[in-house]
Amino acid sequence: MLPLLRRWLFYTLLSAALLFLLFQASHFLEGPHGGHRRSHKSPIERLTHPAFWQPKFRWRDLPQRHPVANLTALPSGPLVDIPKIQHDFEPETQERRVERQARLAAVREAFLHSWDGYKQNAWLQDEVAPVSGESHNGFGGWGATLVDSLDTLWIMGLQKDFRVAVTALKKIDFTTTPLNEVNVFETTIRYLGGFLSAYDVSGQKHKILLEKAVELGDMLYVAFDTPNRMPVTRWDWKNAALGGSQEAARFSLLAEVGSFTLEFTRLSQLTGDNKWYDAIARITDVFEDSQNRTKIPGMWGVMVDTLNADFTRDTTFSIGGMADSLYEYLPKQHLMLGGRSDQYRGMYSTALASIKQHIFFRPLNPDNQQLLLSGTLKRFSSAHISLIPEAQHLTCFAGGMVALAAKAFQQTHELETARQLVDGCLWAYESMPSGIMPEAFHAAPCEETADGNCTWTDQKWYRAINTPAPTKQPVDDTPEQTMKDAQLTIKAAKLVPGFTRIIDPRYMLRPEAIESLFVLYRITGDHTLQDKAWNMFQAISNATKTTIAYAGIQDVSETGSDWIDTMESFWTAETLKYFYLIFSEPDVISLDDYVLNTEAHPLLRPK
Ligand SMILES: *[C@@H]1O[C@H](CO)[C@@H](O)[C@H](O)[C@H]1NC(C)=O
Ligand SMILES: *[C@@H]1O[C@H](CO)[C@@H](O)[C@H](O)[C@H]1NC(C)=O
Ligand SMILES: *[C@@H]1O[C@H](CO)[C@@H](O)[C@H](O)[C@H]1NC(C)=O
Ligand SMILES: *[C@@H]1O[C@H](CO)[C@@H](O)[C@H](O)[C@H]1NC(C)=O
Repeated sequence: MLPLLRRWLFYTLLSAALLFLLFQASHFLEGPHGGHRRSHKSPIERLTHPAFWQPKFRWRDLPQRHPVANLTALPSGPLVDIPKIQHDFEPETQERRVERQARLAAVREAFLHSWDGYKQNAWLQDEVAPVSGESHNGFGGWGATLVDSLDTLWIMGLQKDFRVAVTALKKIDFTTTPLNEVNVFETTIRYLGGFLSAYDVSGQKHKILLEKAVELGDMLYVAFDTPNRMPVTRWDWKNAALGGSQEAARFSLLAEVGSFTLEFTRLSQLTGDNKWYDAIARITDVFEDSQNRTKIPGMWGVMVDTLNADFTRDTTFSIGGMADSLYEYLPKQHLMLGGRSDQYRGMYSTALASIKQHIFFRPLNPDNQQLLLSGTLKRFSSAHISLIPEAQHLTCFAGGMVALAAKAFQQTHELETARQLVDGCLWAYESMPSGIMPEAFHAAPCEETADGNCTWTDQKWYRAINTPAPTKQPVDDTPEQTMKDAQLTIKAAKLVPGFTRIIDPRYMLRPEAIESLFVLYRITGDHTLQDKAWNMFQAISNATKTTIAYAGIQDVSETGSDWIDTMESFWTAETLKYFYLIFSEPDVISLDDYVLNTEAHPLLRPK
């Protein structure tokens, strides 16, 4: 080798070794939690930080930068009478019992198949990939499916698996995650809701479940340690663990800010520590204060500014994805507080009036059924507000929400609204060749047709197909031209009568439609809802079952669609639980005893 090249090689290797040592040292300085991108602390400060020195770091021991001097206490005083929610069911006939139990067994089989797939391929990971058998870890890697399914195991009478899972979850370590960012909302509804509910439904005997809830609750509480006590919803946990400063974001999603109430309230109720209730009470006050000052008074935009605690500026309104559970939690939180506060009732009533006026719409449909779907409103200016007639699967929770609130707040006439919302989603399911509703589609709203007449004609449907949203204007084409264009679109886009566009043809194993069927069934006692649920279950299990578990599908507008290699934890936490409960006896998780969070985790109501 030439001397020059040898020397070059020597220096290269030397620099590589030095770089390696430096890299190791920087890891050492940063402590067990790895890097910290936004910390302004010096290395010395960092070395003296408890997160580094303590043999076992606990979120609870981390000093708060913006401590609350005077915690808002849970509302106390005598319990208020809340009207009975569930229907007075009559004893069932032998024939019905046999049929019901066969359906129940089929749902339980589907759960066991999913659970086995998870156990064998992805134990303690977040999700099993149902086609490849790999695993996904998008929710912190803390075993999302395991924690999310605990109460389902218990409810389905799988006590042995429940005990195995309870033993395994002791290993979950909430002081670290491979992800840089924790989604505070998802972690709350899936994990915190999962622990609290498993604790409640199993008779509050397994103390480890409450201990884990507190451990996690202590972590989540740190995300609220900002100057204005608004939470950081996409949270740089490492920076926080190292005592770095943090602020809430200028753009946060409505649902991710407004859906902590049930879980945090239950945690305060069970521990007697008001800090979690205090954290959410502050957010609720901002929501209440801004409710009539938004661009569409009564509702809040999909984005809220948590940095400035200003929830009034956004111009897009929906109760679908990104917004949904904020609304869902208003009546539920009223129940969770035992009716001891009127704040949530007032906010719900104001919101519902606005939602009915602006968001719910009637779709044109060939059988002229009275249906309701939930759309999206865009306010371009005070003179230009337009409804996008887009129905998302995620909006199908609305029927359940309206039905539950109708009972809780004695607005019995709203049960008819709830029924039409449920029927709207059922129509979307039944219209599709697979028997499953797409993730998102556009329908032809009755109001947009020339005279507001909602009677079906093919011409009205064709006209709606040719009119691009959101600028709905009458089409001037000749009728023949309209028909020809529309028919080409129908063929190319595989549209069925009443549908004008399929925005997203997937089905992701979502629960919202069966959720509302279940709630409406428990409230009305209408057995035809069980039959509808059974059709829905067969269509779903037919299209989604793999050899490993169950998978989402690419296209509901065909039979035999391709799978998507994902089974999110809400399949076993929610979808299968709701199918099981609608075929159970009505006193299994009675709505007079429990409130279900937005991940279908039943939490005991104070009595
Ligand atoms: C603490 O808050 C309560 C209401 O929650 C109030 O009555 C009380 O005066 C407050 N105390 C202080 C010291 O601010
Ligand atoms: C908002 O307006 C409604 C009437 O439209 C009223 O009932 C409600 O009390 C108002 N809310 C607040 C917080 O002022
Ligand atoms: C509504 O439209 C249908 C079909 O065009 C028509 O037969 C019916 O008379 C109309 N009803 C009203 C009340 O205008
Ligand atoms: C199940 O799917 C097949 C096609 O994959 C279809 O022919 C059959 O009708 C479906 N059954 C149900 C109950 O949906």
